[in-house]
Amino acid sequence: MRAFLAISLPEDAADALVAVQAGLPMGRPVAAENLHLTLVFLGEIDDATAEELHDALSAVRLPPVTLSITGLGTFGEGAPRALWAAISADQGLVLLQSKLETLARRAGIALPSKRFVPHITLARFRHGTEADDAFHRYLADRAGFRFPSFAAHSFGLFASTLRPEGPTYETLAQYPLSG
Ligand code: 2AM
Repeated sequence: MRAFLAISLPEDAADALVAVQAGLPMGRPVAAENLHLTLVFLGEIDDATAEELHDALSAVRLPPVTLSITGLGTFGEGAPRALWAAISADQGLVLLQSKLETLARRAGIALPSKRFVPHITLARFRHGTEADDAFHRYLADRAGFRFPSFAAHSFGLFASTLRPEGPTYETLAQYPLSG
């Protein structure tokens, strides 16, 4: 299965992000129910690996993490690949993310050593899409967007199925952050 570890959003944060998506002049917005903060993208893993990781994740004892949305950003400048909401790199979040990476590697999953850039993808753009004036205006109009701190009390293991109309995500397990 294609899997990842992520934090789901409370409804008010998701609502605020859906409001930000409104008026996007180009690209494919992420469906409201799919908005999430990825902690670790696991890629294709087999059932035995998923089980082993599940056992390790079930033993995690960490406190809730505080998240706040601090603005919007893009991957790719002139030719954006994604539009996202930036999440503040709170110490607890950084700790949680690196712990989960360690557990995934220990379960035998090969992960690229990429720096964690906490974000919630709001829209994706077809390869080669160029940022036009309307897109720059859209970003400028929302430059002050913020969403106040909220606590995440769990994270989840999700399976992703890619379909032409967009991915669907299934929650395989949720793990409390209540340590
Ligand atoms: P993204 O939001 O920046 O695209 C499920 O696909 C989640 O895993 C997405 O949130 C996605 O991040 C993240 N992810 C990280 N690396 C990925 C990769 N190589 N392929 C697909 N998704 C990836």
